[in-house]
Amino acid sequence: MGIKAVIFDAYGTLFDVYSVARLAETLFPGQGAKLAELWRDKQIEYSRLRTLSGQYRPFSQVTQDSLVFSLRKLRLDDSSPIVQRLVDQYGRLEVFPENAGALAELCELGLPLAILSNGDLPMLEPLLAQSGLGPYFTALLSADQVRRFKTAPEVYQLGPDTLGHAAAQMLFVSSNAWDACGARWFGYQSFWINRAGQPPEELGIAPDATGSSMRDVVAHVRSHAAASPQPPSHSERKDNE
Ligand code: LAC
Repeated sequence: MGIKAVIFDAYGTLFDVYSVARLAETLFPGQGAKLAELWRDKQIEYSRLRTLSGQYRPFSQVTQDSLVFSLRKLRLDDSSPIVQRLVDQYGRLEVFPENAGALAELCELGLPLAILSNGDLPMLEPLLAQSGLGPYFTALLSADQVRRFKTAPEVYQLGPDTLGHAAAQMLFVSSNAWDACGARWFGYQSFWINRAGQPPEELGIAPDATGSSMRDVVAHVRSHAAASPQPPSHSERKDNE
């Protein structure tokens, strides 16, 4: 079915969550990459635990809590100024270098683009503003609106509810394999940007397409976009006159 809109995950897909490793490395030489990886894993684990047990807290809080755990697990300084510096870095995550150009090309195809993220708006809005990516998107959808995290269906439902197309008519793009699978379970077409060369998830479902960067998303959308309604041709107009 032709693609009528494209919805993006934010963290890991538009913004590089592992770019916090640079600051972490200056604070804790030799531990930056390890801290960034543990922090991200714990953040996602907490988001799932809180959703499964009905114990919602905004993703900004989950992000801070998972950082404190990770610092303690690695026996690193967990004092407030350190936690604050690292959490603030989440508002300055690096954008993957090809993303702005790819988003501009997708906009030229005339399809609405949206973000659907676990992040709450106080986290996402400043990040979008400082990255310059904000103007490419017609909607910023947050799991905070339904107080559950992905892969809960209520979160994915924000897409059809807001954009007015069935999930099957939209492409959900994520660099997180679990998210690309969750979106497929919900009913979206999905594209997995496998930036890290990971094996596919063993979940009994696969994304519709896989690539290694946002450039591959552009190529996929170009060949699968729903044809926009064309004005009648000159000869058709004559026939009807
Ligand atoms: C998000 C995280 C899960 O932006 O990557 O939703």
